[in-house]
Amino acid sequence: MNQILQSKPDEAKPGSLWRCQDEAERIRFYQAATDTLLAPWTEFLWHTVQAKLAEVKHGNLPLWRQTIAALPELVLSSSDLDTGVLRAGLPEDCDDAARQQLYRLLQQLHPWRKGPFEICGMTIDAEWRSDWKWKRVQPHIKPLAGRLTLDIGCGNGYYCWRTVGAGAKFALGIEPYLLSYTQYLALRQLFGQHLMTVLPLAAEELPDTMRAFDTVFSMGVLYHLPNPLAHLEKIRGLLRPGGELVLETLVIDGGAGDILVPEGRYAKMRNVHQIPSCRCLEEQLTKLGFSHARTVDFTRTTVKEQRSTDWMRWHSLQDYLDPNNPQLTCEGYPAPIRAVIVAEAP
Ligand SMILES: C[S@@+](CC[C@H](N)C(=O)[O-])C[C@H]1O[C@@H](n2cnc3c(N)ncnc32)[C@H](O)[C@@H]1O
Repeated sequence: MNQILQSKPDEAKPGSLWRCQDEAERIRFYQAATDTLLAPWTEFLWHTVQAKLAEVKHGNLPLWRQTIAALPELVLSSSDLDTGVLRAGLPEDCDDAARQQLYRLLQQLHPWRKGPFEICGMTIDAEWRSDWKWKRVQPHIKPLAGRLTLDIGCGNGYYCWRTVGAGAKFALGIEPYLLSYTQYLALRQLFGQHLMTVLPLAAEELPDTMRAFDTVFSMGVLYHLPNPLAHLEKIRGLLRPGGELVLETLVIDGGAGDILVPEGRYAKMRNVHQIPSCRCLEEQLTKLGFSHARTVDFTRTTVKEQRSTDWMRWHSLQDYLDPNNPQLTCEGYPAPIRAVIVAEAP
């Protein structure tokens, strides 16, 4: 049985915030991108990340760094990336003391929004059942085998691992929120190296004309952006000609031209700018030159899919709905419905 050996020393160089952003990681990233359309951009992306991380000041950084540094070195017998509960290791790969140590360390990275994951028999039951979204998305998109993919706003990387599990050639994720990025670094230490990398970047920080990716996922991001059309234009420049956009976002049940611009908060979220109808989104994509824009899924979010758990102990969807009418948010807007829209880049 593999036991936790000891905490690794913190090897972070002065000025670098996470020891994973080191030379070995750079080489792995460059090598993975070789022979893909990403290759000409790796240098630029890596330096952008370095410059950004060198400037970061966040009160929780010491805790996050300590957490990553204290994660045990486990030799795990197997992992499974092609399953709803992403699994690293088996219960017998560590003893209960080691599992408790893992639990305590990973809880320091609370709140866990996306999952589930299972590490040596310990389940990270995140706020969202991200596997339910994947089930609504995957049957409708081009098979991922052999594709170069980008997941914008990938959180802790849940869907990047799923993409690799589905056979992608290489999955790049970008995520500007540093706690989610730190969760990715922690998970990667447990899952080991795979054909994927997450970079702590926002979509706006990517070059406009990469024209590199076979598939770009933008899931749960559009309504957070003040200029959603600019985001769709950005994605058009990231996809190779004929590449596939997979857009998942909040929508309203309406027709062409219908769009909700919430006054103040929506479901208690401060940063929801616009919620269009599916027709509206399809039309916008068509006007931007995408072809075959089509809605492949339209689902009301339930309190079983988004809920408080031991790994996300704060309020969740049921606290954001009108207690007398769950078809409405507490502000009186239509309750969250999410759609998946697929289209091909010109
Ligand atoms: C609601 S979460 C969705 C996470 C995941 N994609 C999913 O579908 O479950 C939105 C994510 O987008 C990220 N995000 C927000 N603005 C972004 C931007 N400009 N570029 C890239 N990601 C962004 C947030 O940090 C957050 O992780």
